[in-house]
Amino acid sequence: MKSIFEKLLKEAKYSIRNSKDLKSLEKIRIKYLGKNSYLSNKINILSKTSKEEKSILGYNINITKNKIINIILKYKKKIEKKILYNKFISEKIDISLPGRKLKNGKIHPINSTISRIEFFFQNLGFDIKIGPEIENVLYNFDYLNIPRYHPSRKLSDTFWFNKKTLLRTQTSNVQIHVLKNNKPPIKCISSGKVYRKDNDNTHTPMFHQMEGFIVDKKINFSNLKYTLYNFIMYFFNDKKLKIRFRPSYFPFTEPSAEIDIKQKNNNWLEILGCGMIHPNILKLCKINSDIYSGFAFGLGIERITMLYYNINDIRLFFENDLNFLTQF
Ligand code: DAH
Repeated sequence: MKSIFEKLLKEAKYSIRNSKDLKSLEKIRIKYLGKNSYLSNKINILSKTSKEEKSILGYNINITKNKIINIILKYKKKIEKKILYNKFISEKIDISLPGRKLKNGKIHPINSTISRIEFFFQNLGFDIKIGPEIENVLYNFDYLNIPRYHPSRKLSDTFWFNKKTLLRTQTSNVQIHVLKNNKPPIKCISSGKVYRKDNDNTHTPMFHQMEGFIVDKKINFSNLKYTLYNFIMYFFNDKKLKIRFRPSYFPFTEPSAEIDIKQKNNNWLEILGCGMIHPNILKLCKINSDIYSGFAFGLGIERITMLYYNINDIRLFFENDLNFLTQF
């Protein structure tokens, strides 16, 4: 009887050693230890055998079974190790490959224009202020001397929340906030978003403005001209640039002017509005207009950025197209 089991064990050992993968090993396990295996059949007839036979048969079944189980487990580990090793080899990291380039972020052209303007005026001693974008009608229109019938107040031009509150249409609102809360001498600039119901290739419903103003004793129009002329020369960094001051009208300045610059095609293009702060505004802010005077200016940041970089569609600034943005 012993030799049958020894033969079985030898046969099993041989097949186990010849199995190449886990699948074939499992097949061998089923063949020698599964429900229909020789060993299982022997276990089933164990109860029908005599007491003496039972102990010898049982002993041989157990020994053979345990030996086969151990060899299978041992071999299974061997195969698993081999699989893992092959995986390591095939998935090896090539440390000599050049790395992927990290894309650096860039400053948005609008922000870089704001920084350059701030740099110029901070060097002249101007403070940087911020004002609210959601504004009371008084600060956006009334206090700025803008009459009730002015077209810019219309529903078709301005984003109104209700009769009193709106999205500011200009950064000039900051003039009132600052002049009301400070005593001269006052020198400041303030940039930010403004909103108007416009949308085409030179207008977007939201755009940026820079407001600047100064209130002190004896501020006059030549101070304004000198400051803005030098600013434009600094900004465009072009000694040949032609600039002209043209009389204009703004309700909050008197006299008022606009500055144009000459383009390559010889056309003049307006780039900012300016003027001497209207005495009504100073009075409203409790500043004595017999002693103090001031000048103010406001410019469109998108517009001068477009001129500086030669961009012809304002909407490009807000489309988040990386091909556009990474050029700056
Ligand atoms: N707020 C004006 C606008 O949006 C621009 C402006 C003109 C601002 C003259 C000023 C100024 O401070 O003095 O069109």
